[in-house]
Amino acid sequence: MNIHTYEKIWLIASMVLIVGFIATITYGAVGPGIAMIDDDGGTIDPAEINDDERFDDPGVEHVGGNEYEANIVAQTWLYTPEEIEVPANSEVTFYVTSRDVTHSFSVVGTNINTMVVPGQVSEMTVQFDEPGEYGILCNEYCGEYHHTMEGKLTVVP
Ligand code: CUA
Repeated sequence: MNIHTYEKIWLIASMVLIVGFIATITYGAVGPGIAMIDDDGGTIDPAEINDDERFDDPGVEHVGGNEYEANIVAQTWLYTPEEIEVPANSEVTFYVTSRDVTHSFSVVGTNINTMVVPGQVSEMTVQFDEPGEYGILCNEYCGEYHHTMEGKLTVVP
């Protein structure tokens, strides 16, 4: 190969890279993107959490068939309730909100992992087929005892 052929190959390669970068940025801006904050659940006034029917008595509710709702309140440095129990073969919709600062609600070993932002209700629906035990962790630094902020999810047979 002569020098011109190399030059052409590099020219084409750099064009492909540039187009690739632009495509990535465009995709990030106008594509489906990545939901950093899952706010499907709508908004809520953090001061009125206790008056909201979903969060006045947080916990798991059977809504019919194999469907359950888990309403959870995050605050420094705990989840209410700290322990959740759902049956196997259930479809659980989580509604999580924060009373104070930004936390996260992350169920270790599952794809449940959301930021929990005051004023927003994070919503996600998950299918639990098998019994098991999962740890719940806060992945957003939320102050001195952030590392102690945890809970437990048990899928009972
Ligand atoms: Cu809550 Cu870290």
